[in-house]
Amino acid sequence: MSEELQINTEQLPNHIAIIMDGNGRWAKSQGFKRVSGHKKGTKAVRETVETCAEIGVKNLTLFAFSTENWKRPKLEVRTLMELLVSSLKKELKTMMDNDIKLTAIGKKDLLPSSVQRELDEVIQKTANNKRMNLVLALSYGGREELVRATKRISELVKSGKLKSSDITEGTLQENLYNQELPNVDLMIRTGGEERVSNFLLWQIAYAELYFTKTLWPEFRKEHLHKALINYQNRERRFGKISEQL
Ligand code: IPE
Ligand code: IPE
Ligand code: MG
Repeated sequence: MSEELQINTEQLPNHIAIIMDGNGRWAKSQGFKRVSGHKKGTKAVRETVETCAEIGVKNLTLFAFSTENWKRPKLEVRTLMELLVSSLKKELKTMMDNDIKLTAIGKKDLLPSSVQRELDEVIQKTANNKRMNLVLALSYGGREELVRATKRISELVKSGKLKSSDITEGTLQENLYNQELPNVDLMIRTGGEERVSNFLLWQIAYAELYFTKTLWPEFRKEHLHKALINYQNRERRFGKISEQL
């Protein structure tokens, strides 16, 4: 039986989040410059996005650039930004063909204006698409998102619109970059590192974590299937005991 047949489409994660890591190491292993790993990684992005849409995943968040990634060498940052512009241009068709709605989370104002422009255009053109929400985490940091939410809530309290005793988990959720983004069910990290690297800290509170040594440029449909089958074989208890489920 193929792995595809073993996936239970009734039990798909509603939200998959992926830390796409290992581009630089892949390039190095081939004797190439780091940048060519990022280029090769765009193919993995397309295949993953299309596969998720095909099997019926409703929300997919991809970690494309972190607040910490600004500290990389200038040339690498510049190339990554250029690659983003060209990928957004190229993949608009993929998103329209697959009925995918694109949004972004992160400190957008730090991005070069060319990236902001392209991003805004794709967001606007795909705004009415319904099959899957694709969220790009760009210039994104989980701590920055929580600090931003705290500041926004403080302003509400200061202006008298909100009583501090009325602050709930919902209030925090409402003040994140995307208040509609649901809890992450499955978080995948490629590239072998087993850490969260400041990704979606609030949203992963009860996520199932899946780490694979596969480097991002080599991540294909079958790797995603393997992660999904692994996820479907776990028991999510959310604090209860087996017998209560
Ligand atoms: C992930 O690959 C892409 C980004 C962080 C932008 P890396 O560039 O981190 O690749 P490694 O981890 O150095 O191999
Ligand atoms: C996390 O990967 C960020 C993205 C995949 C965009 P990094 O390569 O930046 O993370 P660390 O430095 O290994 O924690
Ligand atoms: Mg890395």
